Amino acid sequence: MQEMNWWQRGIVYEVYARSFQDSNGDGVGDLNGILDRLDYLVRLGISAIWISPIYPSPMADFGYDVEDYCAIDPVFGTMADFDRLVAEAHRRGLRMILDFVPNHSSDRHPWFLESRASVDNPKRDWYLWRDQPNNWPSNFGGSAWEWDETTRQYYYHSFLKEQPDLNWRNPAVRKAMYDVLRFWLDRGVDGFRVDVMWMIIKDELFRDNPINAESRDAAPSNHRLLPIYNTNRPEVHEIVAEMRSIMDQYSNRVLIGEIYLPVEQLVTYYGQNLTGAHLPFNFLLLQAPWTAEALRQTISSYQSALPMGAWPNWVLGNHDNSRLATRIGVRQAPVAAVLLLTLPGTLTIYYGEEIGMTDVPIPPDEVQDPAEKNQPGIGVGRDPERTPMLWNDSESAGFTVGKPWLTVGVHYAGRDVASQERADYSMLKLYRRLISLRGSHPVLVNGSLNRIATDGDLLRYERANEAARYLTLLNLGSTPIQTFTEPGRILLSTDLAQDGREVNGRVELSDAQACIIELY
Ligand code: GLC
Repeated sequence: MQEMNWWQRGIVYEVYARSFQDSNGDGVGDLNGILDRLDYLVRLGISAIWISPIYPSPMADFGYDVEDYCAIDPVFGTMADFDRLVAEAHRRGLRMILDFVPNHSSDRHPWFLESRASVDNPKRDWYLWRDQPNNWPSNFGGSAWEWDETTRQYYYHSFLKEQPDLNWRNPAVRKAMYDVLRFWLDRGVDGFRVDVMWMIIKDELFRDNPINAESRDAAPSNHRLLPIYNTNRPEVHEIVAEMRSIMDQYSNRVLIGEIYLPVEQLVTYYGQNLTGAHLPFNFLLLQAPWTAEALRQTISSYQSALPMGAWPNWVLGNHDNSRLATRIGVRQAPVAAVLLLTLPGTLTIYYGEEIGMTDVPIPPDEVQDPAEKNQPGIGVGRDPERTPMLWNDSESAGFTVGKPWLTVGVHYAGRDVASQERADYSMLKLYRRLISLRGSHPVLVNGSLNRIATDGDLLRYERANEAARYLTLLNLGSTPIQTFTEPGRILLSTDLAQDGREVNGRVELSDAQACIIELY
């Protein structure tokens, strides 16, 4: 383990800042709330916290519309709170990763206010202005071009009209944004998760995107065209490499990219000779059907697509996708935990995943997410996976003493931190055991993944190095399964009664059971 970097050895925990812990009763999570929960995170065993954007923002897209890249929004606290959080996290051995949003700013950012003031303003070319729109759609519905009456041109916004895209062909924009990276790195931040990394630069000629022949009529508007000219342009790799070179001027920092692309394109974000992102987020498990065969294919295709020397990573959930326990069912959530914690590389856990939180249905008149407000009824809303962390079974779940900004939902017995602390067996305790097992068995982090196979609902694979060999068995179905193993000992099972049992030959897994066997 010693030879690995912290971001290779450890686990990243995503905190959606508004929903983790409120400390001042305004119903919105904040930095001091995170501070209060650091010891919980240490006990969980994670190594780094990635916090969703905390910069001053009109909150049109809840912080992904940044008004000032180098300050803290009062709803989250002050710069002093931030510095204290970093110091306290570091004191406990935790690293801090910030969300960097380079593709677009808020329309209230001073740069954009200047840019839209007149066609000859020095900042005009900091954003994307055109006389005519093309057919590029916004990811949040409708056209991505907004008419500006004052200067009689259109500006481009990949997301809301309140989120104008910056012009990354302009060297002054690059310099300003790289200065932002340095500002936070100098303050001791350990890395960045770069928002929509694959969208940052657009076709120079603004060519129309071709029609996507496979799209359904009911699909969100951005699926009806193939996004070949407004995303994943070849020039993006130069920008990623520039960001990386800034990180490399500091010791031990990590560059993570948000990238939703097919695996062959995703892995190009490691860059030429691995000079790109350390971790292009691998979202394949968010999209894979929950069957043994689909998971086998997903894992194998990722393994074989990885460039030589590239460090893998895996994710089961985030603030833009339906929660895992809702997608695959509460029964299967522990199986997913064993899967995740025995896959190679760096893992990211979304807050609440460790207690099996599910999506919370949000009544139509309480919807907050602009993506849903703009396109109601087609299932694009992200509020359900962003509801407050369930710390206990009190009315506001221990999240706030005020009125939570999003409902905490119906309380399901046992689905909160305090109850799970008390239970003999709980998701929280399973996660802790899995994380600690991974910490003490480096082969689970950097060993090879071999012999992946399926048999009906069974998925199995081995993790191995010269010294050790571990077998993971996962029952993805709802009936018992029999399989065979070489002689060994069950290191961990979702069925506590089986822990420590010697096995040789036939083993039976009950429905939704998963285990890790140390082979002799
Ligand atoms: C990313 C974020 C998402 C946000 C969007 C626009 O996809 O994860 O939450 O809405 O970018 O910044």
